[in-house]
Amino acid sequence: MKFKLKDNFLMGVATASTQIEGGLVDNNWNKAYEEGLIKDNSNPARADDHYNRYHEDTLLMKEMGLEVYRFGIEWARIMPKEGEVDEDVINHYLDEIKEIKDAGIKPLLTLHHFSSPMWFMEKGEFTKKENVHYFLEFVKLVCERFGSLVSEYITINEPNIYAYNCYYFGVWYPNHHSLKEARSVLNNFSYAHIEAYKMIHDYREKLGFSDTKVSFANHVRVFDPYKKHNLWHKFCSKVMERMFQGAPTKAMTLGKFKWPLKNIWKVKKGEYADFIGINYYSRSAIVGTHDTTYEGTPRNDLDWEIYPEGIIRTTKKIYDILPKPIWITENGTCDINDKFRSRFLYEHLEKISSSNLPFERYYHWCFLDNWEWCEGESARFGLVKVDYETQDRSIKDSGYFYMDIIKNKGVTDDAFEKYVKGIEYRIK
Ligand code: BGC
Repeated sequence: MKFKLKDNFLMGVATASTQIEGGLVDNNWNKAYEEGLIKDNSNPARADDHYNRYHEDTLLMKEMGLEVYRFGIEWARIMPKEGEVDEDVINHYLDEIKEIKDAGIKPLLTLHHFSSPMWFMEKGEFTKKENVHYFLEFVKLVCERFGSLVSEYITINEPNIYAYNCYYFGVWYPNHHSLKEARSVLNNFSYAHIEAYKMIHDYREKLGFSDTKVSFANHVRVFDPYKKHNLWHKFCSKVMERMFQGAPTKAMTLGKFKWPLKNIWKVKKGEYADFIGINYYSRSAIVGTHDTTYEGTPRNDLDWEIYPEGIIRTTKKIYDILPKPIWITENGTCDINDKFRSRFLYEHLEKISSSNLPFERYYHWCFLDNWEWCEGESARFGLVKVDYETQDRSIKDSGYFYMDIIKNKGVTDDAFEKYVKGIEYRIK
């Protein structure tokens, strides 16, 4: 064996509703498409048509031997207008969840993954304190309708990425450039997560369940100074790390609000996560008030540095804030032609296998090639290839490698020879 993972280490895949379901949904991403903000102009209404193909996709997951599956339900479908609930959509998701469970796969349900209904966006969504109750009403509905079927939840996906991309960097709709708004979103997300955490626990406890697990998916990056000994680069790395992950993590998991966040909700200190959810992709080299990438490093097809060591370095930082079991809720890479994904998988899982941190789960991003936000259909992250014209699915080489890893709970010498040996990364 090249390396072995623990027998109770569970492996599966992750997806998000907007990125795979397709269909015309009145949310911020349909709006972004209408406004011409998607680089290849591909429409999220196509994506993988998973909404109509979940039977076949669940069968495929079963065939691949997946043990766990993280996926989202679309708030804008369930509540298309303020105060309105679409019962057909609820029944659709109930059926999908049952199928997943019948296939022997454990569901982890995401409640907010970068998509908000337009009626909520029009009110200023999470930038405003007075809007948070709309999301909590959705969470209440989720408890009532899905609470007895699902025991594991991600409340909010990557609060930091969403807040900064939409409201500070202005790269995602509604394209604002306001640090004040980004901070408000993070303050409100923290409260929303903590309330949702308590609500889901209370609801399931009343039903007599004791296996409830709730957290959020935390996007973590390594922030290293571009020049190791440059004091300005070092200082800025620390500030960015705090703004981007230190402060949001402490607020969400412990109810401790530090600059740049503020406890506007008078949240009580506590422990608001049953596991640490880590979404890890890459490292940033900090030049000053902005980031870049080190020269001469391996890159994926979006030019992100491939830096396996970072999965441990970032996780350790979060673990030091709250020592709980670790679930890698996303890790993967954009590899359009599936040339190096197997090596990426090998190296990241190898780091996990040789670490003494309590890793319990790994959800690979993504199950299928997915509609990649502003990159549209052009960036491919899937273990399964999707032909967007015909919607045909085919397992990629890296998908077969992943199946082998799950079956053997590690990488055998044969699998290494077959799938990994000889793969070179592109260096830039
Ligand atoms: C997001 C996914 C996205 C992936 C790759 C994560 O930040 O949660 O939705 O597709 O990264 O960019």
